[in-house]
Amino acid sequence: MAALGVDAVWLSPFYPSPQVDGGYDISDFCGVDPLLGTLADLDALLVRAHELGLRVVVDLVPNHTSSAHPWFVEALAAAPGSPERDRYIFRDEPTDWVSVFGGSAWTQVPDEPMESGERSDRQPLRRAGQWYLNLFDSAQPDLNWASPRVRADYDDVLRFWLDRGVDGFRIDVGHGLVKDLTFPSFPGSPLDSGSKQRAPYWDQEGVHDLHRRWRSLSDSYSPPARMLCGEVNVSVDRAVRYVRPDELHQVFNWPFLMTPWDAVALRAVVDTSISAYGGVGAAPTWVFGNHDMLRMATRFGYPAGQAPRRVGPRSPQPDEALGLRRARAAALLMLALPGSAYVYQGDELGLGEHTTLADADRQDPAFARTAGEDLGRDGCRVPLPWEADAPNLGFGAGRPWLPQPEAYAALARDRQRADPTSVLTLYTEALRLRRSLDLGSGELAWLSEPAATVLAFDRGSVRVTANIGDADVELPPDAEVLLSSDPDAGRHVPPDTTVWWR
Ligand code: GLC
Repeated sequence: MAALGVDAVWLSPFYPSPQVDGGYDISDFCGVDPLLGTLADLDALLVRAHELGLRVVVDLVPNHTSSAHPWFVEALAAAPGSPERDRYIFRDEPTDWVSVFGGSAWTQVPDEPMESGERSDRQPLRRAGQWYLNLFDSAQPDLNWASPRVRADYDDVLRFWLDRGVDGFRIDVGHGLVKDLTFPSFPGSPLDSGSKQRAPYWDQEGVHDLHRRWRSLSDSYSPPARMLCGEVNVSVDRAVRYVRPDELHQVFNWPFLMTPWDAVALRAVVDTSISAYGGVGAAPTWVFGNHDMLRMATRFGYPAGQAPRRVGPRSPQPDEALGLRRARAAALLMLALPGSAYVYQGDELGLGEHTTLADADRQDPAFARTAGEDLGRDGCRVPLPWEADAPNLGFGAGRPWLPQPEAYAALARDRQRADPTSVLTLYTEALRLRRSLDLGSGELAWLSEPAATVLAFDRGSVRVTANIGDADVELPPDAEVLLSSDPDAGRHVPPDTTVWWR
């Protein structure tokens, strides 16, 4: 990481978990899953990262617990209406809300014994079990953020990690958490952010109180500065409300992540993001990949706007060479933008999705809950190739939790480090220049372009030309090329190439 030149590392959940949803089903918010190590290992990791000048951001998952969490176990053992049940969202009847992973968002618990006071001779001794809300898997019951007890207990979770020295939190489902407890009907898909009616469980006004609370708590630990970045999957005009001065520092830029390889669309989202985030005094963020999305090298291997949401052995396959070429160009485009850039592990190696993963290997609960209609996110979560010739490509002993595709061997880190034309070298050079030229801050000024399919802009002393069209572009004869996503092209900018020059 330090050799790559990033400033910080975000660790996805490493807490004790039954691993139903890749560790996002947490049974103890203040520990480390034995599968991965111990708290002492985590402490050592923090020390070493800080020695190397890297900051460490950990994943906070406040929307739900695992159904194996003691709070939920206690809730099930307690009676309807009890304080234990009030930590979660229990009802006597389900609503029409749909889970992100498919199927109903409600799960019924087994029939429950009646309280003795409730019984009469004519009533049965048991009554139908209540239903609990699970916006994700039924092994991930949603917490009730209207409960003061949940708020107070969760403060202790933040304190636990801040005391150990983490530099910040990535907040999972940061636009969720608070639900409309009048339970209006909402049969629409939770994934459909374009629907006219806002889902009663996303982007509710009350969620901002939580972010303010966590901001003031984490600020009280400064110095050193701690940062909060939200997974806030809403439109830019709504997202900026989460980064007002007393809320989160940053949110992931979902509209940018969803933009196809199209110059007009990319320019529009860059402009909107810079002006909207600038309007509230926050830095925009840029992200082309994460553990929930089709990898960028695969997504860009389809005609713009035609990439499937998920790819499996029965799907149309991407043009891998084109996808990789565009992923290189996209990386230089992203890393030239002002604000913070987030790189998903493996994108710096140019890894594509595992597009032919067998159904039997799939782990994502979305696959089972939709009877395979949603192939799930496993294809972007395959263990990284570190060493081309080592067992499991250097990932470790034993069988990795997902098989690695053959193509990963050639992309192993040890192969790429020695290759001046590799994707890893491109990222390392780009991050070095980004730092030395301070490209993360400052203004972006568009230049008049030779064609609408070319993005050209100045970032201080650096000029950026991204050719997203299909005609060649020539730089002036006196141009000094600092970095090109096509190392053989010189002052020539072929299609699907980005050049930094002056
Ligand atoms: C977020 C995570 C995703 C997880 C879900 C439930 O969207 O990024 O991986 O499945 O939340 O915690």
